[in-house]
Amino acid sequence: MSQISGFSKLSKLEKIDWLTEHYLSDYPSAKTIIKQYWNSDEKLQKLHDEFTENTISNYYLPLGIAPNFDIDGQLFAIPMAIEESSVIAAASKAAKFWLEKGGFSTKILGTTKVGHVHFNFKGDPSVLKTFFEDLKPKLFSETAPITKNMEKRGGGIKAIKLIDKTSELENYYQLYCTFNTVDAMGANFINSCLEQFGQTLEEQAKTYEAFSSKQTFPEVIMCILSNYVPECLVRAEVSCPIAQLGNTDEEAQQFVNKFTQAIKIAEIEPYRAVTHNKGIMNGIDAVVLATGNDFRAIEAGVHAYAARNGHYSSLTHVSAKDGIFKFWIEVPLALGTIGGLTSLHPLVKLSLGMLNHPSAEELMRITAVAGLAQNFAAVNSLVTTGIQKGHMKMHLMNILNQFEANEKERADAVEYFKTHTVTHSEVISLLEKLRA
Ligand code: MEV
Repeated sequence: MSQISGFSKLSKLEKIDWLTEHYLSDYPSAKTIIKQYWNSDEKLQKLHDEFTENTISNYYLPLGIAPNFDIDGQLFAIPMAIEESSVIAAASKAAKFWLEKGGFSTKILGTTKVGHVHFNFKGDPSVLKTFFEDLKPKLFSETAPITKNMEKRGGGIKAIKLIDKTSELENYYQLYCTFNTVDAMGANFINSCLEQFGQTLEEQAKTYEAFSSKQTFPEVIMCILSNYVPECLVRAEVSCPIAQLGNTDEEAQQFVNKFTQAIKIAEIEPYRAVTHNKGIMNGIDAVVLATGNDFRAIEAGVHAYAARNGHYSSLTHVSAKDGIFKFWIEVPLALGTIGGLTSLHPLVKLSLGMLNHPSAEELMRITAVAGLAQNFAAVNSLVTTGIQKGHMKMHLMNILNQFEANEKERADAVEYFKTHTVTHSEVISLLEKLRA
């Protein structure tokens, strides 16, 4: 193991040499593998190299398509970047199921994004309040060069409030700022505004007479957007007569009873809620990744929202009243369809293209639907066949690949497992028999 300084200054090949010499010396094929994943199109490879720092290769994920999504009366084939077998199959199955029952309907409940200037102030709170009222127009005017273009697109700063947090943390105040970033995810815009607010706040304080000594000047701690966006919210829903959910009324009612209980369990039991929501994020993250958005931001915001009432709970809900089954999700999704990777990564552009170049609001709707569909498919399987049957069927290919099965062995295995349960050991034993 070895320490190095100036690593980032080395060329890509020098970085790989250093890495393989110091950390992969017992891995003879390391360089071959690293280079196998380079793109033969040098321009394209350079683009990928420059997305981040110290790039040595590309890390592929499958990009798949889940077709047949009827969303608010329009048909979509949804791009999903995900490695987990059965996720895209499950989404497609749910899409088809609801296509025949009226599809998905969605509603944007808000698009507000949030950021803060977190600062300390040790003086008189009423003086700070007066200072803030005087300061506010300056906060807007001094960010005008940053907000000009965003305002042209219909967005900008929505509001700036002074919040006293000293009951929770000594000397702690915030500028609580809200933004509309239209079709951009807006992180850079928001953070630029916030840093300017912080600078203006400190500069103006220095010349504010009522702050008599240095001790009472506000001191900025940090300026940063929040990934908690409970007001950037979308709802997606499916509904149908209960009778359509089974071959007989009794079967339909039994399904609805079990399904409803499964959702109620996820509402009150955090252990289940986390897995339940993980299944939802299988769908959401896959669309977020395919469309070049920041899945870490989405994950952080969604789980915080799931715990907003002080108790981690399900993101989806269900009702079965007056013969109608209704299933819905409300989820915060701060997404963008312009800026960032969306205009750089060719596959991201392609994904947005197949969604007909959606606005950020449209992408929020599509993504929420993918999450709801995924959850419907998972809970449907869980309360009926269990998930392993479908999951292991999809996993079969991974196991066959692991043991380098040839085309004939694959075909034989697929045939055999049409009537047998897939397990790791069953697949090995079948391959042994075929190879004997
Ligand atoms: C697996 O990736 C996701 C599920 O566990 C979700 C769930 O349990 O609802 C199937």
